[in-house]
Amino acid sequence: MSQESQGVLSAYDWLTKLYHHLLRYTKDGKEGYQYMKDRGIGDEAIETFQLGFAPNVKDFVAEFLTKKGFQQQLLVKAGILSQLNDNDVSDRFRGRIMFPIRNHIGKTVAFGGRSIKEQEPKYLNSPENELFQKGKLLYNFDLAKKHIRKENEVVLFEGYMDVISAYQADVKNVVATLGTSLTEPQAKLLNRYVETVIICYDGDNAGLEATYKAANLLRKTGCSIKVAKLDNDMDPDSFIQQHGSDAFKNRVIKASDTYMGFYMRYLKMDFNLKIEGDRIKYIENVLQELAMIESSIEREYYLKEISNEYNISIESLTSEMHGYRQKQG
Ligand code: UTP
Ligand code: MN
Ligand code: MN
Ligand code: MN
Ligand code: MN
Repeated sequence: MSQESQGVLSAYDWLTKLYHHLLRYTKDGKEGYQYMKDRGIGDEAIETFQLGFAPNVKDFVAEFLTKKGFQQQLLVKAGILSQLNDNDVSDRFRGRIMFPIRNHIGKTVAFGGRSIKEQEPKYLNSPENELFQKGKLLYNFDLAKKHIRKENEVVLFEGYMDVISAYQADVKNVVATLGTSLTEPQAKLLNRYVETVIICYDGDNAGLEATYKAANLLRKTGCSIKVAKLDNDMDPDSFIQQHGSDAFKNRVIKASDTYMGFYMRYLKMDFNLKIEGDRIKYIENVLQELAMIESSIEREYYLKEISNEYNISIESLTSEMHGYRQKQG
């Protein structure tokens, strides 16, 4: 590791402690602490995830870290300070609750800072560098690892708050991509540790689209997948806050769909099933996908389901599907 990276790691380490201390024990941190309470984050989670608060002060951090001997230039490069002009800097994270992003051995390699008022962007992140590449890391992997191994299953979320809420609900085999797009390195990492990935992205359209991409990437990588289902206006965190831990375990995690179940739901977005022509195209699309499913039990299960739902004989569905199977060779 370069000397510069060592300096950045050390600065992030101090900063994790400083933000956390400010949140827990000072007047400057009160509004951040209150925000967390309002969102149902308890003290234990605040400790576990070393959550913190960056006060809305121009040079709180600048002063603290400069006194510790850090060079201003390094702090600017690390995205801790912003260069305002030639001889003026300010703290980059201000008035935000702070999520340290830990690498897989638990060291802070970046921060995500969430605004607690309407300030944009909603989340401000540290820049990428030698230590931190968002697409190569999964949030909370360090703490989740032993639970992932034990369950042979991992739950994949979009965001910090989803991980923290799940953790509080005692579902601990959880990680997040920090956004919607799963990358190949992340998929490979999961595949090394676990058999099954339960994708539990937000219920909105962005979440649904991202689920489709993540599901196929994971399948290509060799994982089996399941897909949790949330209402359009829900994400895992809001579901847990609204319905509680048992509902999350039973109605979301345990009730998650097979890939095919998800795909049929996903595909419906593109068709108006009230129109006959659309209905037929929809069924053809489903059969094409079904043709690629390995398990004959699963294929038959869904053929029956479609047969019942659309009142088409199982024979014609089967023969159509076999046509597609032959085409793929
Ligand atoms: P979401 O928009 O779903 O946010 O983005 P969230 O996690 O539900 O957060 P809350 O509940 O509004 O506080 C999912 C993830 O995408 C990343 C963050 O990691 C976030 O947790 N993100 C989102 C950013 O990095 N920047 C943004 O401006 C927004
Ligand atoms: Mn503490
Ligand atoms: Mn989202
Ligand atoms: Mn969300
Ligand atoms: Mn949310």
